[in-house]
Parts: sequence; structure tokens; C-alpha cells
Amino acid sequence: MTAIHDIDYGTPARISERMVTLTIDGKPVSVPEGTSLIRAAAEAGIPVPKLCATDNLEAFGSCRLCLVEIEGRKNLPASCTTPAENGMQVRTQSPRLADVRRGVMELYISDHPLDCLTCSANGDCELQDMAGAVGLREVRYGFEGKNHLSSPKDTSNPYFTFDPSKCIVCSRCVRACEEVQGTFALTVDGRGFDSVISPGQLEPFMESECVSCGACVQACPTATLMDNSVIEHGTPDYSVITTCAYCGVGCSFEAEVKGSQVVRMTPHKNGHANHGHSCVKGRFAWGYATHKDRITKPMIRKKITDPWREVSWDEAITYAASEFKRLQQQYGRGSVGAISSSRCTNEETYLMQKLVRAAFGNNNIDTCARVCHSPTGFGLKQTLGESAGTQDFDSIRHTDVVMVMGANPTDGHPVFASYMKRRLREGAKLIVVDPRRIDLVRTPHVEADYHLKLRPGTNVALLTALAHVVVTEGLVDEEFARARCEVDSFELWKEFVARPEHSPEATESITGVPAAEVRGAARLYATGGNAAIYYGLGVTEHSQGSTAVMGIANLAMATGNLGREGVGVNPLRGQNNVQGSCDMGSFPHEFPGYRHVLDDTVRGDFEAEYGKTLDPEPGLRIPNMFDASLSGTFKGLYLEGEDIAQSDPNTQHVTAALQAMECIVVQDIFLNETAKFAHVFLPGSSFLEKNGTFTNAERRISMVRKVMEPLGGMEDWEITVALSNALGYPMTYQHPSEIMDEIARLTPTFAGVTYEKLDQQGSIQWPCNDKAPEGTPVMHRETFVRGKGKFLLTEYVATEEKVNRKYPLLLTTGRILSQYNVGAQTRRTSNVEWHDEDRLEIHPHDAEERGIKDGDWVGCVSRAGETTLRARITERVQPGVVYTTFHHPESGANVITTENSDWATNCPEYKVTAVQVTPSNQPSEWQDEWEERERENKRIEKPLIAAE
Ligand code: SF4
Ligand code: SF4
Ligand code: SF4
Ligand code: FES
Repeated sequence: MTAIHDIDYGTPARISERMVTLTIDGKPVSVPEGTSLIRAAAEAGIPVPKLCATDNLEAFGSCRLCLVEIEGRKNLPASCTTPAENGMQVRTQSPRLADVRRGVMELYISDHPLDCLTCSANGDCELQDMAGAVGLREVRYGFEGKNHLSSPKDTSNPYFTFDPSKCIVCSRCVRACEEVQGTFALTVDGRGFDSVISPGQLEPFMESECVSCGACVQACPTATLMDNSVIEHGTPDYSVITTCAYCGVGCSFEAEVKGSQVVRMTPHKNGHANHGHSCVKGRFAWGYATHKDRITKPMIRKKITDPWREVSWDEAITYAASEFKRLQQQYGRGSVGAISSSRCTNEETYLMQKLVRAAFGNNNIDTCARVCHSPTGFGLKQTLGESAGTQDFDSIRHTDVVMVMGANPTDGHPVFASYMKRRLREGAKLIVVDPRRIDLVRTPHVEADYHLKLRPGTNVALLTALAHVVVTEGLVDEEFARARCEVDSFELWKEFVARPEHSPEATESITGVPAAEVRGAARLYATGGNAAIYYGLGVTEHSQGSTAVMGIANLAMATGNLGREGVGVNPLRGQNNVQGSCDMGSFPHEFPGYRHVLDDTVRGDFEAEYGKTLDPEPGLRIPNMFDASLSGTFKGLYLEGEDIAQSDPNTQHVTAALQAMECIVVQDIFLNETAKFAHVFLPGSSFLEKNGTFTNAERRISMVRKVMEPLGGMEDWEITVALSNALGYPMTYQHPSEIMDEIARLTPTFAGVTYEKLDQQGSIQWPCNDKAPEGTPVMHRETFVRGKGKFLLTEYVATEEKVNRKYPLLLTTGRILSQYNVGAQTRRTSNVEWHDEDRLEIHPHDAEERGIKDGDWVGCVSRAGETTLRARITERVQPGVVYTTFHHPESGANVITTENSDWATNCPEYKVTAVQVTPSNQPSEWQDEWEERERENKRIEKPLIAAE
């Protein structure tokens, strides 16, 4: 599927029930009221020359190229700023218009370098196109006068170049930064001829507020703002529509290719999740796919102290299968298992669980969602009946009150954050619940109405206090709650939250949030119109993660904020396919579609399809696998795309468990931390090298399409198929579409999903079946999936992870915009220029008490372990709280996190670790060991058998 250069309609579409009818060049045209003439013409297939207009920005009317004639009017109005009216007769071409347009173009060209043939935008430049479109053949003005031709280039950004000599000051870049991205990093400095585009205060891009989203580069009609990859490799020949493999927003991209080389990733304007926008990661940070660190040959070794030996695919697969079979014979059927990843496609994760259930014959399959959003799955299933967010992203256009809890959208979900900021600039109110001052609290033209700075670990107490205000101040939507929810549970819940011990005043000493602020925020949420809650890992990664998710659902049900646009309960999923990996049956107790393995009917369906008797007993969760390994009963593990040695808590415990296993098979694109303990390495493929689907945070299934051949020779799903065949359980798929057909056969919520429909519609939000053949943007409209919504009691239980004199500070963790999770991909791109190490944020008071200065090395020690980082002194964190990111393995953030976990799902309590921080001048013992292992892991022997 290709879509290079979609039609640009000049101005955004308007939505109106009223249509207006006019004629353009004699052709009758009907458009919604408010539509510009330039768009009406484009929709009728009549292109009008333009430069300053583009259809993702409001019209500006500065270039005067789009002038038209309107019958009965003397002047020549700009068609981009003139709305269509009933009965208008418009002419887009005439000798007079041609003259004026040529004159306008002549002026532009007279201050523009005429180096078209050697310009990197040659053939992809709107200025060049327009010169042709208006028939400009000569320029009467010479270059002798004042001009901008010698303005120096700004090459500070690693991904794009700013060449002001080519700028026509159309301000598309400025408007893109404001309207689309919401960063306001660019301005037009000076007036008239002296106007220039200025990042910040005439600073280089890298020193300005710019977050490198690339919206300005995309908007620029000339070669002024240009991707470095296009400057280096030339303009692309064709494009393939695919889906970003980073975060849960799931942006759609055109991967633009020259020969077999990707030269640019352009956000797809028809992408339903991103509408043509992106962040620095998806747009620019794709070079890791061809990084020299990619391992492209299968490797095996007998012991983890041996060097790796490159072997053929056949030998690697046969060896892995024989080892798993040996282990099962020796230690029993349950001694092996697998962990899949939310980085994988739906088809890959589905096959992983199928391999475990049908080929291994047990249910020892788990996924990294265990350590992020498993409480979402549990909490929402219990209350609403479905383990997924309730809305689509576009729903926010109808939201009046946005509550962001334990999420940092501008860093973690940047494109959705841009939508959010746009809605907030339009006047929606904002409540932020977070121990740390995230950017959203105060950003250009946006300021939170409430920032509830709670103590880490007290979400449940705060949510119940919010509910207390809603109930005791009579702000409940009784009609909604009684009609849509179980009345008994509602009554019980009201009585529970109304108890005096749950009042904001009583809980202030627990949460640290002043009671008046809690009351104000609760009133705003309950009475401010359509209110939507967006939450992240700051809610789930706690010992009461599931309880907090239930508390959020309770609040939404009690205030009637479910079942329509603008409201809802919206988990912001971290990775690209967290939703999908959970949907695909990656948990040890559930088949695809969240159906329990104990359910005989469901299991019967899977047994019939798989041709095998399946184990009715739930298998091991990730932490159980570790414990079983240490007790000698779990011996073999197959991992795809998951780096548990870096991402799971209490690294020492994880690595001890890995060392105790006899066969670890890692399928990945790089030799990651877990591979240091592996016996077989199977080279995986990046998202550019395979076909499949991802499901984003709004349940949207989107196609991932192969852009280049897999460097290792096999797509990941093919590797799993080969392993299953070698294990003696045949799989015969020829293409991932056949895997999706099987998923659809077995999973009621996916029953209507096919690759054909995905090609036609672009994407589908499940449930998609006979009841909802086009998919379901907003869930729970008439009834909840479970029938009646269920209120659940949310008793606050303090975490066992308590501060004391030895560990007086609370460490919490999070992500940063430029890096991504364990950093395996983004660390291998120029994104390191923004973040090349994880630092420990500490409040000035805590730093001063300890004699720590900004940039000093500090030791951070918890009950689990110790690591060393450099300090960043900042008031973003409150006194008593420290914070770090976890993108660099040598930082060892998870050396200090503990094994405390959510009571219901075992999701680790990453967000609360009691620590002490002290000045330090040397790496921790763990870091020394890490260095040593890193050196060892890179040893690869010459191949004994030539790889295929
Ligand atoms: S940099 Fe590009 S988009 Fe910005 S004003 Fe100049 S020509 Fe227009
Ligand atoms: S890259 Fe994005 S943030 Fe930076 S100036 Fe351009 S639009 Fe603004
Ligand atoms: S917002 Fe997420 S999905 Fe979109 S480009 Fe950025 S990382 Fe990719
Ligand atoms: S495109 Fe209309 S004035 Fe520039």
C-alpha cells in the first residue's frame, strides 16, 4: 500500500450539518459551511496555486498566490481565507489572475537561490512546483539588491537542517509548531523584508524549546527545513504505509524509500491515531534498524561463559528445540516457558502463546505487560467488563475537563499530548495528579487548574478522597449510576467512600495533598462537563495498582463520565503493542480475548483449532518463573523482544534466576542484557522488516508493512513457526494474514478483522464483529460490556516499602521524550544528543542536606541494591522524592527497585522505592560487574559452520 504525497486541500476540513453550494470554474460544488474556497476547489479536483496554505493548518493568507475572482467582486480575495458561500461563482484561472500570480512568484524567486538542480528538495519543492504552475519563465529583478542568500545554515539539530537562504517566510513552520505540536518554539523575528524565522530568541534549534517533532520540517514548502537523511540520500521514490514501533499512540507513517533504503518517515495524514503528526522518535529515530550492532546470524553456545558461535538457522532452531525437549523430559512438562513482548506484532505474540500451549503443552506464557498495565486489564475487566480503554484519541476534542494521573503524555505519548494541549488551549480544564511537576503542568498557553502533588504510593487514598467529595457534596450522577450499574455495589461504595476517614482532610496526612485542592479538583471533575481520565504507569506500577484502576473506574461511573465522546477511562499504554499483546492471550491464565484457560467451552474451541489437548491449569507468571528457576524446577525460557534483565525489577534476583536456567533462547535484534545469559540467539527483525499488526492504546489495530527484507533472513513470526515445527508441533502459515484469520476465528472481539478490511479502512478499533462491523471507537455506549457496571471498594493499604532513617527518600521512575524504555533502539540513534545518561533528580533541600551539587556522582541505595548516577538538582520533584529514568543499562535503575508488586497481578511497584542518596566517587559493585559482563557478551567466535 503506497501513498506518497496525498492531496493537500489547502485548509482543514470543516464539520457542519449545513452545506453551501457554489460554482467553481463553472463546476457546481457543495461543501460544509465554513469551508474555504481553496478547499472547495480542491475537493472538486481544481487545484489553486498556494504556498502559505496547507490543510493541517489554519489559513494565514500571506503569500497571495491563491487569489481568485468572484463574480460581482472587484478585488481578488485569497481563496484560503475566504469561506465558500451559497451562489458564489468563482474563477480560479484568468489572464488577470495569471499575471498577479506570476508577479508574486517573481518576487519570491528574486530572493531565492536558483540552485534547483542541485537542491536536495529538487522535485519535492512546492516553490518549484508553483513557479511551474503559474508559468514563470523569467525573473526581471536581479540578485544585486538586498537579499537573504548568504544567511548561514543552522545544522545544530541532528535530524534536520535550517537553511534560511531558502526561506519565503510563509510561516507554515511557525504555525505547525503552534497549532500541531503546541510547543511555540518558533517566531517570525523582524518585519517586512527583514523578517526571519527564529527558533527561540534567534538561537540554534538545539538550544531552543524545540522538541524535534519535525512538524515544521514537514510543513515547509521549500528546502529551508529539510531532513538530513534526504539531503544525504536524495528524494524518495515510493512509500509504504506502516505503523510506528515505539509508543502506544501508534502513529501511522509513510516509510519513504529510495532503492531499498528508507530515507524519510513522514507521518501519514490519513493515519487515524496521529492525523499526520509525530514525535522525534517515530519520525527520526529509525536508524537503529540498520545499526552496526544488529546481530544478523543465529548463534549458540553451550555455557554462558563460552563465546558465541555463529551457526546456520537450521542448527540454531534444531538445537533450541532439542534443548527444550531435553529439559521437559528431564524436569517435566512445566519446566519451560516463554515471555513475549509488547514490541512484537499481534501475530507474533499470538504464535508465542500458541507455541507454549500447543508445543510446550503448558501455559507458561507471560508478557512484559505484566510489568506495566496488567492492573489495567484486571481493574477495568472487574468494573466495566473489558480490559481496555474506553475511547478513541479524537474523543478529547469533546472533553471539558482532562484529568491526567500518573502519566507524562508530553514525554511518553507525545502526539496524543499535542491533541491534549490543543484542547486545553481551546479552554478545557486540567487536573494533574503526579508527585512530579510534569511539563503539562505549565507549558505555553496551558496551565493546570490543579496539580495534586501526592506522595508516591498514595493513589488509592487520593482517589477515594476525590470520590468522598463527589458523594458527600451531592455531585453523583445518580440517574446514570442507577441505570447503568449494579445498584447494590453503588450503594455499598457510596457508604464506603463517605466515611469520615476517607475525607480529603483525613487523608491529607497520607497523600500530602492539601484538602482544599482535593475538594476543588473533585468538584471540577464532577461538574465541569465532559470529564476524561488519562492515566499511566504512575497508577498501575504500585502494590495497589489494580485497586487504583478500580478507583478510577468508580469515579467515572459515579459521575456519568462513560459511554460517549469526551469522557472515559483511558490507560495510556506505554509500548506500541501493549494492548495487542494482552488481547492475544499472552497471560498464563487467559486465551486470546481475555478468556480463562479453565473455561471448558473456550478451551474446547482452542483444542479443536489447535488439534491438541490443552492444559486447563494457569501457567507461571514472570516472577513465578524466576522463583521456580531459583528453586530448580524451571529450566528453559524462550524470549522474543523482551529484555527482562534490564526492564524487570530487582536485577540481581532476575539475573540469578537466569543463571540458574539451562537453556535461554533470546530472539531480538541486538545482543541485549538478557542475551548475556542466553544459550541461543535468534536474530529478530525490526518493524521495517516484517508484516503484521499493532494495536494501540485506543484498541486501534493498524498494519505494519514490510519496507525492507529482514537483515537476518527471517521475519519473527517465521522463526516461531520454525521453532514450533522443530518441537514437533506443525505450523504451516504462509503469511501473517493467515494468523490474523485464525485469531478472528477464535476471538469474538476480533471476529470481523481481516487484512483486507484493514487495507480498506486503514485501521480498525476492536470490538469488530457482526454487531460492530466497522469497529468501536467508543465503548460501553448503551450498556457496559459486563452488563451492569460494578463499583468496587478501594481500601487504602500502605505499601510495605516505607521510608525510615536508613532509606529516607522515595524513588520514583519514568521516561523521557527522546529515549524509549530500555533504550535498545533510541540509544542507537542521534537521540542520545538529548539524553545520553540517566540522572537522578533531587530537590535542592535534599541535595543541600547531603552536600550534593548539580552534576555530582551520587550513590543511590535501596533495600534491593545500589547504583551510581549523576545528580540533577531540580524543584520538579518535591522534597523527600527522587526520580530517575531507566533508559541506559549501566545506570542500573532496576538494581534498586524491589520485588514488591500489585496484589492482584504481580505488576512490580516500580514507582515506590525507599532509598538513601549520598555523594559518591565510584561505580557501584553491580556496575563493575556489568562492565565485565558487557565485555564478555561481545565475544563471538569465527563460525564453525558457514551461516546460511
Ligand atoms: S522555514 Fe519553510 S515553512 Fe518556515 S517560513 Fe521559511 S519557507 Fe515557510
Ligand atoms: S521540530 Fe517541532 S518543536 Fe521543533 S520547531 Fe519544529 S515544530 Fe516546533
Ligand atoms: S507518539 Fe509514539 S507512536 Fe507516535 S511517533 Fe512518537 S513514539 Fe511513535
Ligand atoms: S495560500 Fe492563500 S494566501 Fe498563501
